Amino acid sequence: MTTHGGRGQFIALEGGEGVGKSTQLVALARVLRDRGLDVVTTREPGGSDGAERIRDLLLNGPDERWGAEAEALLFAAARADHVDKVIRPALLAGRWVISDRFVDSSLAYQGGAGGLGIEAVRDINGIAIGEWFPDRTLVLTLPEGGERARKRDGEGADRIGGRASGYHEAVAAAFRTLSEAEPERVRLVDASGSPEEVTQRLLDQLADLL
Ligand code: TYD
Repeated sequence: MTTHGGRGQFIALEGGEGVGKSTQLVALARVLRDRGLDVVTTREPGGSDGAERIRDLLLNGPDERWGAEAEALLFAAARADHVDKVIRPALLAGRWVISDRFVDSSLAYQGGAGGLGIEAVRDINGIAIGEWFPDRTLVLTLPEGGERARKRDGEGADRIGGRASGYHEAVAAAFRTLSEAEPERVRLVDASGSPEEVTQRLLDQLADLL
């Protein structure tokens, strides 16, 4: 709990493309603030000045701009700065942090789908973030998510969002693997139904932290 001067809780919101993550981030932050918690919202890639610069390098340009290893290391470098400048200070001040994507995106995208393997990407990120793994990662799941994002983004999909459907299926499979390997930390949450229903499901998965 934060109200007794301890460390805040660190929540990451994850999922494939087009699962309604951004809407849910706003809704979840609002509910937690209504309960009296001091909540910081942030996002990846980005969230700090330096990391936003790296975001630009990662998401723009042709897919072949970065190889798999360079891509994973750039995400980790951005994350190291994000933790250093934003996340760790907030948590140490007793604030809650909700991040739109965090390390589990790297494990699923670069590790699971990108071919480096989840454990190799976990090692890289261990150097970047040390002990600052999320207390809970909520993964929104929606079978038709990919299609919704493609319709939304059209030709404008970014370097990673625009990858073939097989890549995004591998991302979804990797998130499932992560939830099986770490059931306490990583929870899959059904993103179908009304936004209010989804927010309630997210809250249910945080009940023990509240
Ligand atoms: P973003 O515009 O934030 O998309 P979304 O709305 O899907 O969250 O773009 C982030 C993209 O970067 C998205 O395709 C997921 C990808 N990504 C990784 O591949 N690895 C990572 O570690 C992170 C944080 C994001």
